[in-house]
Amino acid sequence: MFTSSSSFTNSVDALFTYIVVLSLIVLVGITAAMVYFVVKYRRSKNPVPVNIEGNTTLEVLWTAIPLALFMSMFYFGWTGYKEMRSAPADALPVNVTARMWQWGFEYPNGLKTDTLYVPAGRAVKVLLRSQDVNHAFFIPAFRVKKDVYPNKVNDAWFVSDRVGRYDIACAEYCGLNHSYMYSAVQVMDQSDFDAWFSSASAKAGVPAVLAAAK
Ligand code: CUA
Repeated sequence: MFTSSSSFTNSVDALFTYIVVLSLIVLVGITAAMVYFVVKYRRSKNPVPVNIEGNTTLEVLWTAIPLALFMSMFYFGWTGYKEMRSAPADALPVNVTARMWQWGFEYPNGLKTDTLYVPAGRAVKVLLRSQDVNHAFFIPAFRVKKDVYPNKVNDAWFVSDRVGRYDIACAEYCGLNHSYMYSAVQVMDQSDFDAWFSSASAKAGVPAVLAAAK
């Protein structure tokens, strides 16, 4: 789970762990306090209830501390989200088309593939379109997930330094074969990518030129 395979993996996992640990501490703390008070003020020891007036210091503390903790979750979530929304200007643009129940990829020179081939260390910006219903473009290993709609172009980006093959899944129920709507992203060394790109482009009869991002 915690192997870094994209620029977002570490930050998303760190935030996830932070939220889980914080929630556990709060859960254990509240439960312990509850059990403590239930035992301490049980009826057999305290038959007559006592009316307790407010305590300003306590009230400020139990408002301010949770607020600060939860705002920290928001802060890290927001800054991470902003980073995910800002693809570098030199990112390699790839058109992604979702349809029931396949992914298709198209490079700037018109080369079309069923697998997303990308060079390691290069930012890739996927421009997401749907031909039919709502889908969601999901690369679990990269912590990248974005909805794909008809009549709207969404985008996402990532950069991976780890050569390998990673699943691309559809993360939005889109009909009968939704659960089979898989493809893969193949991260290759730059030289392997260049070799693959030239030969695939030659086979497809398109010029082997990768235009810069729009
Ligand atoms: Cu496409 Cu689910």
